[in-house]
Amino acid sequence: MPAITLERVLASIGFGSRKDARALIREGVVEINGEVMDDPTMVFETRPETIVVNGEEISTETEIYGMIHKPLDYECSARPQHHESVFSLLPERYEGLGVRCVGRLDVDTTGLLLFSNDGAFIHQMESPKKGIRKLYRAHLARPFEKGQDKQLLNGVFLKGEKAPVTAKSVNKIDDTTVEIEITEGLYHQVRRMFAAVGNHVLDLERLAIGELKLEDSLTPGSWRALTQEELDILGFKKG
Ligand code: URA
Repeated sequence: MPAITLERVLASIGFGSRKDARALIREGVVEINGEVMDDPTMVFETRPETIVVNGEEISTETEIYGMIHKPLDYECSARPQHHESVFSLLPERYEGLGVRCVGRLDVDTTGLLLFSNDGAFIHQMESPKKGIRKLYRAHLARPFEKGQDKQLLNGVFLKGEKAPVTAKSVNKIDDTTVEIEITEGLYHQVRRMFAAVGNHVLDLERLAIGELKLEDSLTPGSWRALTQEELDILGFKKG
């Protein structure tokens, strides 16, 4: 890797332009290995792995892969219409790095949401051809009746779709709680599938994407970077 200046490192991880990065460095709020770095032109032969800015330790990776526990009443859009954006829960600098949600959850759906700025990762996770299963837990307005699981597994017709849409698994947890796996990400898909069999979803939570589960300790609204092991679990190899 070619040598890089401190201001370029900061600019490359979303701290604005090089001019912005320079100003920040001159404020004396940037540290590496416990030492304040206030010379923006300082050259690194190898990019430092982490950097501390305003007391927060930050990875200098330019490709971002993360999971967030989406809370209720947040929109996945960066330009939300009626509620707060999930991006307001992430570091501000991520927007400048082109971070996007991987697929979307409705404003009133909670649970596991991935985000990244790596187009290859986003494409792989969203591609219907890859058939990645997404597991949801639905709380229903009415008891889930015998035979409705078969209907969902065999496929239901949703308005605007040419072919029937099938659930990959359906598991009744109790009278009004059902876990369902789907591979597509159609608009309001799970809600419309339950409506198609005569029920109504009151609450919806995404519990897993492929083998990656929503971690119990990740409270609503909090996020963290994905580990290399989790990228492996999702079957993604960095290019
Ligand atoms: N299906 C829905 O109906 N809503 C979501 O947010 C996700 C899947």
